[in-house]
Amino acid sequence: MLRTHACGEVSEKEVGQTITLCGWVDTLRVSGKISFLLLRDRTGIIQIFLDKTLTEKYQHELKKESVVLVEGLVNKRPDNQVKREEKTGSIEIAGKGIELLSAAETPLPIDVVAETTTNIDKRLDYRFLDVRREKVKNIFMIRSKVYSKTVEFFDKAGFVAIQSPRLTASGVESGAEEFKIPYFGKTASLAQSPQVYKQMFVVSGLEKVYDIGPIFRAEKSHTTRHLTEFIGIDMEMGFIQDENDVMTVVEEYLKFLLAELKRVCKEELEHLGVTINVPKTIPKMTLTEARTILKDHGKILPDNEDLDAEGERIIGEHVKKRHNCDFVFMLEYPWAKRPFYHMRPEGNKKITKSFDLLFNGVEIATGAQREHRLEILEAQAKEKDIDFSKMTFYRDIFRYGCPPHGGIGMGLDRITQRLLNLDNIREAILLPRDPERLTP
Ligand code: 4AD
Ligand code: MG
Repeated sequence: MLRTHACGEVSEKEVGQTITLCGWVDTLRVSGKISFLLLRDRTGIIQIFLDKTLTEKYQHELKKESVVLVEGLVNKRPDNQVKREEKTGSIEIAGKGIELLSAAETPLPIDVVAETTTNIDKRLDYRFLDVRREKVKNIFMIRSKVYSKTVEFFDKAGFVAIQSPRLTASGVESGAEEFKIPYFGKTASLAQSPQVYKQMFVVSGLEKVYDIGPIFRAEKSHTTRHLTEFIGIDMEMGFIQDENDVMTVVEEYLKFLLAELKRVCKEELEHLGVTINVPKTIPKMTLTEARTILKDHGKILPDNEDLDAEGERIIGEHVKKRHNCDFVFMLEYPWAKRPFYHMRPEGNKKITKSFDLLFNGVEIATGAQREHRLEILEAQAKEKDIDFSKMTFYRDIFRYGCPPHGGIGMGLDRITQRLLNLDNIREAILLPRDPERLTP
């Protein structure tokens, strides 16, 4: 490796040692004949003292964001010089030699500063520079842990990781628009959900599966919560009594995830000013109950309607006040709004055994018990005007021994957004795709 230490990891233990650091020029403060170089890498910022000779040689070369290698001696620093932005505030490096590894052009296309006024579109155009800002970097350090802790949870809980195809003959997620692409003289669709496949591999005998991967939705929505490509965390489990078994696993997952994030992302969360409240239990509310609450807020939700964004927000606030919880499971969604494969309870054809999960007043997941009895599933498809006979390989799943099962689809980007109170889902994904954005 080029360096012996990372900037944020040098401590008083190294005082007296000559070390090598690498990083980006955060700031160069020239003060008369000497200067102070604030060198930054992923772990933090460290101050390097440059004497007259080094200052004369490098003061015009060390443009902000240039990449340099610095060799220097670790010194203890007088207390009165300690700066807050530097993690290694109690030490300083006396520069001995500098090598410019890569010069940055000026001016920079966006501000690489703590608080920027550059708009989000411009920032996304230069996302790799935007991520050099500590706040943005922290979002993605946390997102990375959301991903790895999710894998850890499902793995420990006995789920099998599957990776289902994203190139498909046709989608199954009714209601979601497909991206059609040419495929050797035929037309393929980009998967709008791994729904078919996760059910297929429960039925295969793997029993409990999870699939984390990209999901494509050709929806021309311009909102702060929709993308055309997002990362889905999908799971499906067999031999359930009913949809409550799915919710139990999801509750365990969230408790584990949030507690682990609090532990492993302590610094990042603190820097972003985010407090995580790990729920003890997640309250459940039927849409019928929600209608009453919404009515008290002057909002009428008809029997066959889903919660809209405003409805979700009102319910989220209600649950926070009433149960001091950031999450709520919403139950009994109307059949009119749910896909044909959701199971309906005995004796009530108007609702489904499905649920949504809201996090701070925004949907982050949809789940259900699936209809596994072929005759009923066929009848349900017919009710929705779906030609089930054309869905041959989906139909086959139910023909040769299919356990009662259910599952959920969650959005990794949405979870990250809600967790960190980001005003736009685009802040939670490195390179968002939406109807306008296909680059970089
Ligand atoms: O609610 P959705 O469409 O449900 C399904 O895909 C079902 N197959 C899930 C199931 O197992 N029953 O999508 C699931 C989640 C949403 O709750 C949301 O978090 C996320 O995926 N999501 C999106 N995230 C960003 N942009 C979009 N356009 C999204 N659409 C859904
Ligand atoms: Mg949904």
